Amino acid sequence: MDTEKLSSKIAMNEIVNVNTPDFDIDPEKCLGVYDTDPCTIVIMGATGDLTVRKLIPALFNLYLNKGLPKRLQIVGCGRTELDDQQFRKKMENALMALDGKNRSKWLLFKDTIHYFSVDYDNLDSFIDLAEFLKNLDQKHKTQGNRIFYLALPPSLYQTVAQTIGQTGLAHENVNNNGWARIVIEKPFGRDLKTAVHLDQGLRKFFQEHQIFRIDHYLAKETVQNILMFRFANAIFEPIWNRRYIDHITITATETLGVEHRAGYYEQAGVIRDMFQNHMMQLLALTAMEPTSRFEANQVRDEKIKIFRSLRPFPVENLHDYLILGQYGAGTIDGNPVPAYRDEPNVNAKSLTPTFATMKAFIDNWRWQNVPFVLTSGKRLAQKRTEIAIQFKEVPHSIFRQTLGEAIVANRLILGIYPEEKVTLTFQTKQPGAKVCLRPVTMNFYYNQNYSGPILDAYEKVLIDCMLGDQTLFWRQDSVERSWAFLTPVLEECEDCHNREEMLHIYDAGSWGSNFSNIK
Ligand code: BG6
Repeated sequence: MDTEKLSSKIAMNEIVNVNTPDFDIDPEKCLGVYDTDPCTIVIMGATGDLTVRKLIPALFNLYLNKGLPKRLQIVGCGRTELDDQQFRKKMENALMALDGKNRSKWLLFKDTIHYFSVDYDNLDSFIDLAEFLKNLDQKHKTQGNRIFYLALPPSLYQTVAQTIGQTGLAHENVNNNGWARIVIEKPFGRDLKTAVHLDQGLRKFFQEHQIFRIDHYLAKETVQNILMFRFANAIFEPIWNRRYIDHITITATETLGVEHRAGYYEQAGVIRDMFQNHMMQLLALTAMEPTSRFEANQVRDEKIKIFRSLRPFPVENLHDYLILGQYGAGTIDGNPVPAYRDEPNVNAKSLTPTFATMKAFIDNWRWQNVPFVLTSGKRLAQKRTEIAIQFKEVPHSIFRQTLGEAIVANRLILGIYPEEKVTLTFQTKQPGAKVCLRPVTMNFYYNQNYSGPILDAYEKVLIDCMLGDQTLFWRQDSVERSWAFLTPVLEECEDCHNREEMLHIYDAGSWGSNFSNIK
């Protein structure tokens, strides 16, 4: 076909295809009527914040969108003495304004919710719970399948896993049990040693395929989109490497301060709170090799290779690779906010970092010497989560004589928050007689041409637990590698004599500490 015919064909196609995409999407398939087994979700810590704010609303939403198995029971467990009615009322209040249709649905849904009071370290109370669950199974035909969701402080994870285990509830397919899964949220330890210790405690009773370690970042649609974007498009992968990419920045900044979590945050700081988990997952998804199939263990096998390839942090040269900061007083959205040290329950001389920028390298063929610059912090100018791929400049500019300046290199941004989007910046000619370049940005907004429901992170997590799909959960080997990379950094920062000097105080509402010594 000659080029003229070819271009007229393309032009025709463009006309014909306006507003009529030539690809088929089966909405049912994408929204998912999930093929989940009947089961009981047992929430430990059911009177706490997480249950009220996240878990029950997520379960109710799934119910409204027909995302739950037909035979599902929910059992809230806690130390407080409550009966079913009192617990249901508490949950109903948490759902806030239930209008007409939702209210009538709630009246149907609430009967699936029960309450059983337990003492977390008392075997007898768990033996009673086991009996209660057995009866519930028989009555509602939930086939002995159970999810134990630990909505509890991490200090209780081992104790509760142990009492569940000693009662025989962790055994699968024996004594009227079906499958048994345990769900925990970070922090998975506070360094390598404690992470290993926690795992040893869990593994006495649960095997790896039964343990679901949540990272809510992985349940974000746009984070999952990273793999689709990279591996369902042939055009990006060939340039996704050191030959074309100059550096990659991964940013997760927040305007929120420490809020009411000083007790936890004072012990954690930004590296444990954001880097060991969310930032490392974003890094792995951006850098990993394609798998043969999109399947939990294959994806996790590729991620662990990235964690294993992280160049050990040059702790002797920390200043060139890491900046730590802590917010001082400032202004957010026009309102004055206190310094971190003046927040309730924070030590007035606290040296806990609320901000960090870190430069990391991955020692493999694809990424040799490409800096990955990770930044996260609280009380910054804007809440923004994004991955920016900065490509290299053109090898030689034919316009240099006319323009007399370097050409701004291409940049691809995978936006996660506030705008869920993909943008590509490239150069075009500025219209007019003169030779001038004009950088333009091509935008794709994630919800463009889509009006269906979007799964909240906790809805996604709960569905995957019910399906037994561990793709979006941490596997212990990765938890350990991530800690192995960060523990020496934490030790160096926390034990060094100049800890105070290392900490830059920045104004709340600003863009944080000075990045000048890091690319
Ligand atoms: C949590 C951290 O894991 O993630 C919080 O403990 C942080 O400190 C939060 O605020 C950020 O999550 P998101 O989804 O708002 O970016």
